[in-house]
Amino acid sequence: MNKRVLAFTVPLLILIFIIAIYIGGQFNSQGPLEPSETVTPTIPSPAPKNFTPFGIHITFARLKPLTLNFIWITASPTNNSIVELSKPDGDVIRYNGSQIFYKKFYWHIVSASNLALSNKYEYRVGDPDIEMSPKFILWLGSNNTNFNFTVYGDQGTNKYSRMVVQTSVKFNPMFNIHVGDLSYGGSRVDQWIKWFNIIEPLASTRPYLIAVGNHEYDGAGDLSDLNIYFPSIDSKYNYWFIWGNSFFLVINPGPYDDALLDSTLYDWVNQSLRFASMNPNIKWIFVFVHYPPYSSGASHGSSKITEPLKELFDLYGVDIVFSGHEHNYERTYPLKHGSIMSYNDSLYINPNGTIYIVVGGAGGGLYKSFIEPKPAWSYYREARYSFGVIIVNENKVIFRAIDAVNGTVFDEFTLIKK
Ligand SMILES: [Fe+2]
Repeated sequence: MNKRVLAFTVPLLILIFIIAIYIGGQFNSQGPLEPSETVTPTIPSPAPKNFTPFGIHITFARLKPLTLNFIWITASPTNNSIVELSKPDGDVIRYNGSQIFYKKFYWHIVSASNLALSNKYEYRVGDPDIEMSPKFILWLGSNNTNFNFTVYGDQGTNKYSRMVVQTSVKFNPMFNIHVGDLSYGGSRVDQWIKWFNIIEPLASTRPYLIAVGNHEYDGAGDLSDLNIYFPSIDSKYNYWFIWGNSFFLVINPGPYDDALLDSTLYDWVNQSLRFASMNPNIKWIFVFVHYPPYSSGASHGSSKITEPLKELFDLYGVDIVFSGHEHNYERTYPLKHGSIMSYNDSLYINPNGTIYIVVGGAGGGLYKSFIEPKPAWSYYREARYSFGVIIVNENKVIFRAIDAVNGTVFDEFTLIKK
């Protein structure tokens, strides 16, 4: 074999050898020649289910017949949303409701009607086939002329927000009214969840009523979240109810304290107060509106939007107007047409004027600055974490401002109407 033949044959043999190895590999190997590694197939483990009801709160859905909304939250869906209520005679009633998936959580709502007053009900919520809450005691008190309630606003979710609830519960109010700026959660559902857990000791054991503040419009800019979290008598949270000898008017003027008051809302307030003033069974009229018609706080002060309502409060003899927005406490002398009707400190007999109280110290950071000098109409003002307790009797109303931290009374007055 000469050199030329060799030069041709050797590369050819090498090429044939390589091709043979490759073809053999294709048919005989277990797979492509890749780095071998042990692959353990991952079976996705289901997220742990959590059916525990939390954030239980009760509010009025209707007054006649008395119907309460029970609302609670779960992390996982259940088959049923049930309130199981034990009557004092031992009978157990079950009310069915519904649930909606909204912002990561399941919001349950059950309406329970025909509840008798003066009864202490034991109840629990949840799905009886899966998990129920612990038992709560709901006391509806009596719809007579002797009852008490608590009021506060501007709460949030800090340690003082919690103290306000814990101290309020000790006064065993018939119901609590929040004058707005609830959780400051806006569109952050986790913040709302935190707030619902904070208010639960009060809101799960008696009706918890709310007025809307400007911060309820944070996030989406409307009340769509609140209508799921805390559905009430009215979707815009303008409503009234009668309890005993008293008329309670809750007003939502909207998101801005310096806007013009909507004329339709003005008309509705006018009609509502006229109705109350003509009702012979109504002795006391209480108004709840977030923006204070009178405040000497330096942060917001007296609100422009509620200014036009003062003439209606004068006209129909409103006894007390409760507000928040300013994160402090302040109360006026009895006022009518802007004039001070009594310079007494703590006893007003037929004052013929309206007392305006800011109860904005429920946990939102305190506003410590006030306008100087103190306006003549302002009787007492102080930046303090606090809330109000109102004791209603036939001819007498006692108001007490309570320190949220130690439960002491730091301001008090008595209204008497003969
Ligand atoms: Fe506010």
